[in-house]
Parts: sequence; structure tokens; C-alpha cells
Amino acid sequence: MLPPEIVVSKSDLYQRRLWGDPNEDLPIKPKYLVAFAVSLKQKVVVNAAVQKFSENFTILLFHYDGHINEWDEFEWSKRAIHIGTRRQTKWWYAKRFLHPDIVAPYEYIFIWDEDLGVKNFDAEEYIKLVKKYGLEISQPGLESNKDFAYQITQRRNDTEVHNSFINFVLLSMITHRFIEIMAPVFSKDAWRCVWHMIQNDLIHGWGLDFTLRKCVEPAHEKIGVVDAQWVFHHAVPTLINQKYNEVKS
Ligand SMILES: *[C@@H]1O[C@H](CO)[C@@H](O)[C@H](O)[C@H]1NC(C)=O
Ligand SMILES: *[C@@H]1O[C@H](CO)[C@@H](O)[C@H](O)[C@H]1NC(C)=O
Repeated sequence: MLPPEIVVSKSDLYQRRLWGDPNEDLPIKPKYLVAFAVSLKQKVVVNAAVQKFSENFTILLFHYDGHINEWDEFEWSKRAIHIGTRRQTKWWYAKRFLHPDIVAPYEYIFIWDEDLGVKNFDAEEYIKLVKKYGLEISQPGLESNKDFAYQITQRRNDTEVHNSFINFVLLSMITHRFIEIMAPVFSKDAWRCVWHMIQNDLIHGWGLDFTLRKCVEPAHEKIGVVDAQWVFHHAVPTLINQKYNEVKS
């Protein structure tokens, strides 16, 4: 019933001051968003990861262990956005807090796990490659100390980028459990579609991989692994193991 000229349908996550000239609130308007689901136990690894994201990123932390203030020892924590609710997965948060109309200004959205080593990763370089190859849904190449199951996203050393959609699906069928996507990166348009497909009660993201292809056409060209910027999966117990490994609070 509202006249269209007074409807404001989109927002952003930019923080505003309570005083002064609103035009000066944002010296840099971040074009990208990175969200990590974190617990205090991974503080060191997460701190190292955040350093790889420039001031062109809005940093969002989903705290699934209830500890928030403890992060203030890091300088970047003051400009980060912190959302805390106990024992929820990153997909629970993403569905509730990353509605496409809320994250509308961001060109790319990273929704990452906390246990990723980023020594060989640089976010700005990553985005250059994603643009160069026109990837709508991507993930850095993955190295790991233990895996047999990650061939799909495993880093290759002979390419900058490889398109992995076919393997993605095949592997999902074989080892359903290991396919949880750990470091996905979505373009704004792909995210608008993926957000709508995340079921309200989706727990760990298993099964989401199957349907991602509905969001990008042609999937075999626009879903890929960026080998030249890669991450290391530490494979530490995180939220999934929490019921065995209680987080003290
Ligand atoms: C941030 O984005 C601007 C504009 O695209 C670019 O010139 C600058 O190099 C970026 N910052 C970093 C640290 O890469
Ligand atoms: C690239 O990977 C292949 C197969 O894993 C290996 O044999 C080769 O030594 C690697 N090359 C480099 C430069 O790391």
C-alpha cells in the first residue's frame, strides 16, 4: 500500500556514527563481505584469516559459542560486526542475517568456516581471478593433511582455476558427509538464488551442494575452484563435534 517512492527495500551492514555528517561515515565503502562462523578456541587461526581480507571487506563474525567480548583484543574486531547465538551453524546464521536485500551492496560474499589456513591466500587476488574466469560460485583450492575425500576442491598446481562441477556432484554422491562446503564464495546474483534455496532447518549444509547448480547457468563454467589462491583445512573439531566436546561458557 505504500507509494513506491517511499519504499526502501534494500539495506547494508555499514556502521554509522551517531554524530557528524553522515556523508563522512564511510571513508571506504566495502564492496565485499566475509562471514566466519567462529568459536574462541580458533581465535588464532581466525585472526590470521581475517588479516587476509583488506579494508574493502566488511567482516562479520557469527559466534556459535557465546564468546564475543574476548575478540576485542584484536584491532579489527572493532570494525567487525558480531552476531552471537549458541550452537548454530553458519547456514543458520546466513539464512537469518544475510538476506539478499540486506547484503545488496556487496559484489561477493564469502561464508567461511573457522579452521582454514590462509598462508597462501589473498582475498583481493582471489577476487581478480573469480572475475577473470566469471565464476559465480567458487571456493579456493583446498589442501589438507588427511583427506581422501576432497578431490573435488583439492588444489591443482597446474592451473589458476578449474571447473569442478561434475566432480562435485559425483563426490557428493559417494561421500555425502565430507562435502560440506567450507569456504564458498558467491557472487551477489548467485547468493540471491542460493539464499532462497537454503532450507530453514538446514543444519550442516550437506545436500546444499547438490542444488547449487540450479543457481548458475551453465554450472560447469561458472562453478569452480581457484587453485592459484588456496587454503589449508586444519580439520579440527568444530561445531559438528560439539556435542562430544562441550564448549565451556
Ligand atoms: C580496495 O579497492 C580499491 C578499489 O577497487 C582498490 O584500488 C584497492 O587496491 C583495494 N585495496 C586493496 C588493499 O587491495
Ligand atoms: C604438481 O603436482 C604433481 C602431482 O601431484 C606433482 O607430481 C608435481 O611435483 C607438482 N608440481 C609442483 C611444481 O609442485
